[in-house]
Amino acid sequence: MSEESLVLSTIEGPIAILTLNRPQALNALSPALIDDLIRHLEACDADDTIRVIIITGAGRAFAAGADIKAMANATPIDMLTSGMIARWARIAAVRKPVIAAVNGYALGGGCELAMMCDIIIASENAQFGQPEINLGIIPGAGGTQRLTRALGPYRAMELILTGATISAQEALAHGLVCRVCPPESLLDEARRIAQTIATKSPLAVQLAKEAVRMAAETTVREGLAIELRNFYLLFASADQKEGMQAFIEKRAPNFSGR
Ligand code: HXC
Repeated sequence: MSEESLVLSTIEGPIAILTLNRPQALNALSPALIDDLIRHLEACDADDTIRVIIITGAGRAFAAGADIKAMANATPIDMLTSGMIARWARIAAVRKPVIAAVNGYALGGGCELAMMCDIIIASENAQFGQPEINLGIIPGAGGTQRLTRALGPYRAMELILTGATISAQEALAHGLVCRVCPPESLLDEARRIAQTIATKSPLAVQLAKEAVRMAAETTVREGLAIELRNFYLLFASADQKEGMQAFIEKRAPNFSGR
């Protein structure tokens, strides 16, 4: 398999669908796969025609974690100097909305990857968990923080200490995922959400994403300041004038992204 095919990219108008494509290894997130994913994500982020990105997995997993075989003999210095895990931060730094369409296992780094996305939907057979404890390690790409915010400290602690997984239904009950659907309709459901977002002003979408992220990443006071700054900023946009004028004229808005 060429390195190019570790992530498949399909562009459908304003939507980019990125498919993790190592099904024989349950899409284990090797450094090469992560690099390819980052390359695609950053290309989508820089492309004005793309409004929303969907990440999904080929086969029976979203991703069964970071590639254990690639880490098994690593030293701490290897892990540090290779930037193997540190560069995952570039996934969370994408400015456009990213939807995770979780089609099966989302374990370890796979669960962390899903939680770096902005919206998570899951097929009925999806499973989420942080089983790193079974390998003698702990989550290293945000699992202890993001899972704890999603599930609350006690359930997250139980999962991280026992390595147990939760079903799509339980993830739904906790608000980790916002929708559960049959496997065959997962991508269409993701497309529907993406299409709706793609009709909005991309500026408002970007600044809303940034402000909502702040709720988990900073204090309420700082988050409120960023929300207000972004709110004011949008009054400098043509899209705000268009959106409000369209409401007054009882017509659909025509957003330009300016
Ligand atoms: C490398 C993996 C892998 C992984 C599966 N495979 N997960 N290879 N890294 N994380 C490979 C298997 O070795 C096997 O390859 C093939 O995929 C199919 O997997 P099986 O185990 O045969 O499938 P099954 O019996 O159905 O079990 C599915 C499974 C199990 C329960 C998901 O594969 C599993 O427990 N995987 C590991 C999950 C895990 O521990 N994830 C956390 C990784 S650490 P062969 O060649 O034998 O066919 C991590 C740290 C993150 O994510 C730190 C920060 C990024």
